[in-house]
Amino acid sequence: MRKNNTRPTVFVVFGATGDLNWRKINPALYNLYLEKYMPKEFAILGSGRTKYTSDELAEKLKDGIDRFSRKGKAEASEWDAFSQNLYYQPADVTNPEDFKALAATLKEITKEWEQEPTLIFYLAVSADFFAVIAENVGKYISPEFGQKVRIVLEKPFGKDLETANELNALLSQNYDEDQIYRIDHYLGKETVQNILAFRFANSILEPIWNRNYIEHVQISVSEDIGIGNRGGYYDTSGALRDMVQNHIFQLLCLVAMESPVSFHADEIRNRKVDVLKSVKAINVDEETVRAQYLGGEIKGEEILSYIDEKGVDDSSSTETYVALKLFINSWRWHGVPFYIRTGKRLKKKDSTITIQFRDVPHQVFPKEANKLWQKNKLVINIQPEMGIILKMQAKRPGLDMMLQDVNMEFNYEDAFTEQTPEAYETLLLDVLTSDQTLFMRADQVEEAWKLLMPVLDNWAEKKSEGMQTYASGSWGPEKADELLKKDGFEWFND
Ligand code: BG6
Repeated sequence: MRKNNTRPTVFVVFGATGDLNWRKINPALYNLYLEKYMPKEFAILGSGRTKYTSDELAEKLKDGIDRFSRKGKAEASEWDAFSQNLYYQPADVTNPEDFKALAATLKEITKEWEQEPTLIFYLAVSADFFAVIAENVGKYISPEFGQKVRIVLEKPFGKDLETANELNALLSQNYDEDQIYRIDHYLGKETVQNILAFRFANSILEPIWNRNYIEHVQISVSEDIGIGNRGGYYDTSGALRDMVQNHIFQLLCLVAMESPVSFHADEIRNRKVDVLKSVKAINVDEETVRAQYLGGEIKGEEILSYIDEKGVDDSSSTETYVALKLFINSWRWHGVPFYIRTGKRLKKKDSTITIQFRDVPHQVFPKEANKLWQKNKLVINIQPEMGIILKMQAKRPGLDMMLQDVNMEFNYEDAFTEQTPEAYETLLLDVLTSDQTLFMRADQVEEAWKLLMPVLDNWAEKKSEGMQTYASGSWGPEKADELLKKDGFEWFND
């Protein structure tokens, strides 16, 4: 099923001279263009505070493609054709006059187009500007273009429940929910989308996808990178807000959701929000661990402690690592722990979901045969490895009966010849074709915040009390190991 949008479209990118557009958004738009997903009539209007010309923006964006596009350097004739549709207009987003000027430019660009265009406003700017841009577009541009306006927002969507509610309320004054696209780039990842295919296109899994067969679930998203030059943002955020409230909760929803009756966007999103609503209130003392990284060495590089990083307060109590134990109150999941963890400066970049199955009810093999025996596991590798492994027991060749773990493995490289699109290509095409399945709805965002507020409030009150530390390049603090150990489990690190 090829998604195509023939309606003329203008992409308006706020923050056009910034990193996100340079690295991700524009290379994705360019690849969609190369693969003929862009409508016949399209334009990209970049905007930002910098006083660029359209040519200067084009030059910068070509450099971004040359460096970051999965398809390699832009070919001259293709780029020339694409960049004819690229414009730039500086704007101060707090100034209504600049929005009126943008509206005039949009009219000018589209005046000879056959149909009224769809306008997609992409807010690739600091979250501090979401409200003012959304409001000014709503006031000064939307009235000229009617319902054909869509607005795309990057995370963070609020800092807490209150600010998320305020932003949702403001958006709903200016836009209908079907005009709002809240991006969570994890949902655009091929392996993440595959969780749905894997669960609901195969009949063998559903009967065992529950508490009767599954003992516990681990969702682990580790990163070896630190906070780079984002200290200012990160120190007001922390791992819980930066990764758990959005990306990891989305993974949790996909693993734990009930079967949808169709692949309709709202049906999928309803099932996902049900999961968030049914997570048991988190016991902060018993079920959470937070920590900050200390200095060390990763791949020969000397690493600073978190509190010595640029932009980070000396007495910061912001966590760079978090581990949680969650329970879902439902027939399917009653009593099954979901352990989640994420952190910066850990041993390696690795995002994996592991479903551990229960023990066999009765061991028929002699003790000696079981020395290497392990429980079955289903391992969903999201990145950097991409694939799914079912760990089974088999007889090791030899004259003695000896059981051993073997892998039944599907990996993308061997199974498919197609190149994997970047998450942003998938998501931008979905915005173009009005498919909201992979975007966060207002109620999802709110439920995710609701769940985490007691934890955030508790940590804010305690400041650094209870904060653990971990060496850069390790697998995190000991306390996180204890969280599982007391239940008789351990993190699957390899
Ligand atoms: C972003 C976070 O949303 O996701 C970053 O703000 C994090 O802190 C990044 O590094 C991880 O994304 P990915 O796709 O590299 O796993």
